[in-house]
Amino acid sequence: MRNTITIIKLGGSIITDKSKPYTLNLPVIKKLAKEIKKANIPVIIVHGAGSFAHTSAKKYGGKKGYSSLWGVAKVARDAQALDQIMIDELIYAKIPAISFRPNSLFVARKGQLASHNLTTVLEALKQGLVPVLYGDVILDQSWNTTIFSGETSTKYLVDFLQDNNVRVNKVIQVGITDGVYDLDGVTIPEISKSSYKVLKKNIFESRGTDVTGGMKHKIENALEISSMGVKTYIVNGLQKDTLIEVLQGKVIKGTIVT
Ligand code: IPE
Repeated sequence: MRNTITIIKLGGSIITDKSKPYTLNLPVIKKLAKEIKKANIPVIIVHGAGSFAHTSAKKYGGKKGYSSLWGVAKVARDAQALDQIMIDELIYAKIPAISFRPNSLFVARKGQLASHNLTTVLEALKQGLVPVLYGDVILDQSWNTTIFSGETSTKYLVDFLQDNNVRVNKVIQVGITDGVYDLDGVTIPEISKSSYKVLKKNIFESRGTDVTGGMKHKIENALEISSMGVKTYIVNGLQKDTLIEVLQGKVIKGTIVT
């Protein structure tokens, strides 16, 4: 059993063009898949919804219920459509990627985890497979549906894995900026629970379709993950080899959430 694992979240902003509905960044997906293969360490990959399911979720809701059943089906379909492309590209890069649909792994209540079926992910890890999860619409016992971003699923995954003797050595958030920017566009090198209280009002938020809350959502999830003893590295995946370097533990430009 691989008992140390790194979780990589490939943000929707890097794998798709968030300003254009249903538009992929295929060359970047291919580059990231190659880098993950080259780093050759045990990973779980989580990816965002980008301009696929964010587009339909904006139209039909899903975060706290939905406007029609048809809408739920479409958000789930769009999330899955992007996942299928990601899986194809990961397999093309010779990564033994296996997809787990978050809407089948998790049940929520008022937007929080109510129950899960993550033992199936553990079983895949035991066998040396690379589990892939993604931002998805989740059935909710109070609201009918909610949305679990890739970050939200990552948080529950870290908690579960650590309870099951799998050490998560870090989470890497891969996006299109050199970490978290302040309002002057300067990278904030480190964010902790105490510094975030002050920094919060100076965080730069990018534009684009996003129903899950952008950079602040990522930071707040990362702070919850850090309270489980796991640091999150927010890095720019567009730069050559940055992902490999951070996977290998080298110092890179970006933000560490401690
Ligand atoms: C959003 O997931 C999920 C849906 C809209 C269904 P994420 O929040 O992880 O996606 P990105 O990374 O922002 O695109």
